[in-house]
Amino acid sequence: MSKELTQITNKFEGEKETQRQLLYIEKAKEYVIGLQKELGHKPTCCVTTFGCQMNARDSEKLAGILELAGYELVEEEDADFVIYNTCTVRDNANQRVYGRLGHLNSLKKKNPHKKIALCGCMMQEPSVIEKIKKSYRFVDLIFGTHNIYKFAELLVAMFEADGMVIDIWEGTDQIVEDLPVERKYPFKSGINIMFGCNNFCSYCIVPYVRGRERSRSPKDIIREIEALVADGVVEIMLLGQNVNSYGKNLEEPMTFAELLMEIEKIEGLERIRFMTSHPKDLSDELILVMKNSKKICRHLHLPLQSGSTRILKEMNRRYTKEQYLALAEKIRREIPDIAITTDIIVGFPGETPEDVDETIDVINKVKYDNAFTFIYSKRTGTPAAAMENQVPEEVVKEGFDRVLKVVQETARERVSLMEGMTLDALVEELNEQDPTLVTARLSNNTIVHFKGDASLIGKIVPVYLKECHGFYYLGEMLTEG
Ligand code: SAH
Ligand code: SF4
Ligand code: F3S
Repeated sequence: MSKELTQITNKFEGEKETQRQLLYIEKAKEYVIGLQKELGHKPTCCVTTFGCQMNARDSEKLAGILELAGYELVEEEDADFVIYNTCTVRDNANQRVYGRLGHLNSLKKKNPHKKIALCGCMMQEPSVIEKIKKSYRFVDLIFGTHNIYKFAELLVAMFEADGMVIDIWEGTDQIVEDLPVERKYPFKSGINIMFGCNNFCSYCIVPYVRGRERSRSPKDIIREIEALVADGVVEIMLLGQNVNSYGKNLEEPMTFAELLMEIEKIEGLERIRFMTSHPKDLSDELILVMKNSKKICRHLHLPLQSGSTRILKEMNRRYTKEQYLALAEKIRREIPDIAITTDIIVGFPGETPEDVDETIDVINKVKYDNAFTFIYSKRTGTPAAAMENQVPEEVVKEGFDRVLKVVQETARERVSLMEGMTLDALVEELNEQDPTLVTARLSNNTIVHFKGDASLIGKIVPVYLKECHGFYYLGEMLTEG
């Protein structure tokens, strides 16, 4: 079979799969109606997300199917169906899930109709499945990251089964399009442009639980964005573990910068974000496209992980301290109003206080607008977990505190540069603490709170940045006239 023909066949298979799943939604609906009669109310469901934006997007897909199947989406975990979409990037993510499962069990004892499901990255680890089978027998359904598109089918299997239903795949090359999605925000949305990761940074479990890198076709991506825009979306976030390597495995290869140029043309779309960029693959072409774009936001998340070339090598990041600094400098030179944010790991095996000094040196030079600092977490099965020179806890803590202090100081310095400016902000929600305020996001991702009401949500408005409070602003909306 020729290559082209194979792709057409795969696409057809994908569409057939979508049809199959839509039929399963119909079938699930019958069970939900039955449940409604027994319960005397519309069955409720709660989707709880752990982890990154990818998981958040996956949860919207789960919610879309649950809603079509007849459930009412709620935020509370005393719902009739609770699903945890889990993360395993660091051990504390896993511990949170185990901790909360105990509570779910006590709720289930009060509501015998309650069903509990677990899915997501943590479920791709065999040791986790063993533990749940042994110690958490009350869970009704478990599936992983590769077969999430089968959720409707698995729901039906759960209703029909006596005991726990478990379906975990080791990998997949399937991308199933056009399944229902229930967005959390009406005006903004994440969009998967690729799945998986091929980088195998030595500390990271993501390539093992999310599988190999696969890009969606530009046609499917653009069609999805156009539909979202027609439905009121003004801001999108393109999602991938390493968006800079988008398109390499497509039948007709395409660069990420080329994809961005196509997306820019979509009328009605106001803002484009993306995450995450691996420094080793960030091209000059991308910098140029960002510079000339009216829609791409002035924000780049560029994970550093470590400022020590020696540690970067051990991490398998494939750039040096000097290369990273040169890249950051080039980006700042070409796009002066851009905000650069980062991720940093402290306590990687063999890291010395001098290595931490190198990281601090990079922070001082780049001056991030924000940085997420993580304590290294040993992930079973990764090369770093087998390294002998794990760093003692007190040494890690000392390094972590030093890094955090510099991050806070430099971020305040960077963010305060905007004081007195008036910039456009997209209003996202009412402020949680003070409902007379709204919370909005600048193009460069900085948050600003100002007086306003719910009618502003989803609108882009000019805001005077009055007071800088570290990572965020208090401002005032400018009204016309
Ligand atoms: N693909 C993205 C990151 C995904 S994970 C990228 O390459 O940038 C998000 C962040 O979690 C990483 O940037 C890293 O800083 C952190 N992280 C990943 N594995 C970790 C581990 N084992 N311990 C501590 N932090 C980790
Ligand atoms: Fe993990 Fe590295 Fe892949 Fe990011 S690029 S997901 S840190 S392996
Ligand atoms: Fe966690 Fe999986 Fe994302 S491990 S960070 S939810 S890809």
